[in-house]
Amino acid sequence: MTDAERRVALDTIAAEVNVCTRCRLHAGRTRAVPGEGNPDTEVVFVGEGPGFNEDRQGRPFVGRAGDLLVKLLGSIGWRREDVFITNIVKCRPPDNRDPEPDEIAACLPYLQRQLTVLDPALVVTLGRHSMGRFMPGAPISRTHGTVRPADPATGASDALVYALYHPAAALRSTEVERQSFEDVAGIPRALVDARTKRAEQMIAVAEAEPTEPAEPAAAATSPATPIAAPPVSAAAFTPPDAPPDDQLTLF
Ligand code: URA
Ligand code: SF4
Repeated sequence: MTDAERRVALDTIAAEVNVCTRCRLHAGRTRAVPGEGNPDTEVVFVGEGPGFNEDRQGRPFVGRAGDLLVKLLGSIGWRREDVFITNIVKCRPPDNRDPEPDEIAACLPYLQRQLTVLDPALVVTLGRHSMGRFMPGAPISRTHGTVRPADPATGASDALVYALYHPAAALRSTEVERQSFEDVAGIPRALVDARTKRAEQMIAVAEAEPTEPAEPAAAATSPATPIAAPPVSAAAFTPPDAPPDDQLTLF
């Protein structure tokens, strides 16, 4: 899929979300919050659901939790426009209560379609509810800062998942905030691992296909440089006007 095709597909999903009445949360919303970001990104962040400010603006993570998320991203030299940011439920639960299981189930097809379109290498979950979708049954106290393969049923067909605490939890506890900065520092490594896994997967698929007798050498040499193989948008992480940054050398 080209960048333009992905953009159109994401806009189509957003247009459906904006008028969705599949669950009771539609009744209390000011605006739905489909998500936003770089359609060509390798990394998707998934939060829980819109809060007060997000509901007003129709954009994810624009309140205090969003400010902290931007700071966390900044600590590894990333900007929010470089990634895609969305939520498990797209409409604000009343009084910011937790989303109910039936609301999560009703809304999941939108996230699944977004992930199918974006085909990220890495999904970063923000908080328990998001983690519960991608790492079912795992307690966040033990899984934050760790990576595992995404279940393809989530829509992310070949991705790793990395769990973070929710930024709102970090706003309530300096220890969680400290831990969050430590966990975010592990994201570039997780992305490199995710790229390697995808490259190996591509090579395995290529090797399973019948090859022309004259060309086996090309297929055999590519495993040596997996990180160079398929990055969808390495340029997204190295804006031309950005100052040199040690973190970015990873990309
Ligand atoms: N918290 C979330 O989980 N998502 C948002 O979009 C904002 C705050
Ligand atoms: Fe539709 Fe999701 Fe909003 Fe429920 S939360 S009304 S399923 S968009």
